[in-house]
Amino acid sequence: MSKKILIAPSILGADYGRLNESLKELESFSDWFHVDVMDGNFVKNLTIGACVVAGIKTKLPLDCHLMINNPHLYIEDFAKAGASSITIHAEASRHLPEDITKIKELGCRAGVSISPDTSVDAIAKVLPMVDMVLIMSVRPGFGGQSFMPEVLEKVKWLREHFPDLDIEIDGGINDKTAPLAIEAGANILVAGSYILKNENPEEAANKLRNAGK
Ligand code: DX5
Ligand code: ZN
Repeated sequence: MSKKILIAPSILGADYGRLNESLKELESFSDWFHVDVMDGNFVKNLTIGACVVAGIKTKLPLDCHLMINNPHLYIEDFAKAGASSITIHAEASRHLPEDITKIKELGCRAGVSISPDTSVDAIAKVLPMVDMVLIMSVRPGFGGQSFMPEVLEKVKWLREHFPDLDIEIDGGINDKTAPLAIEAGANILVAGSYILKNENPEEAANKLRNAGK
C-alpha cells in the first residue's frame, strides 16, 4: 500500500516578524512545518537558529532541515528547541552514522539529505538507520528555484529498495512537479513558494496532497 502524502510548508517564505501568526494560518491544512536552517557556510544564505525554533508555537511537528556544516555541534540545541525531526546533509557531516545516532538518542526522528549532485551511495551506510531521506530537488540555499527532474531517479531507487521509508522531496514543488515526485515514490512534499506565495494557500496545499490521485 502506498504511503500517505504529507504536506510540509517551508517557513522560509513566511513573515518572520509575525511567524507564529503566519504559521497559525497554515496549520489546518498542513501536516508538518519545514524549518530551513542555513549557516551562510554550507549554503550561501543565512536563516535562523535553534532559538527561533524554540519560539515557534504550533501543534504540528517541526521538521528541521539543517543546511549547516558540523551539524553535530547543533543537533542537541534543535532537539531541545522542540524539533520533531532533524535532517542533516550527508555532504556536511563528517561522522554521519554517529550524528544520526545522536539525533535518535535525543528522541527526534532522524533524516539524512542529499543535494542534487550527490548520489545515494553517499548515504548507503545510514539508510538502515534513518527514519527519513530528504531528496533535494534544487540546490540548497534558496526558495523559489526550479525543480530538477533528474533527482527523481534517486527517489525511485529508494522507494524500490526501502518500501517503508519516509521519502521527503524539497525544492520547486508545485502542482506540475508534485505528481512526478509522488509517482516516483516521495510521500512528504515540502513546498515554500507554491503554498506561501499563493493567493489561496489552502487550495494550493490540497492540490499537492491530491496530486498523486
Ligand atoms: C531550499 C530549502 C527549501 C525551500 C523550498 O534550500 O531547503 O525548503 O525553502 O522552497 P520552494 O518550494 O520555493 O522551492
Ligand atoms: Zn528545506
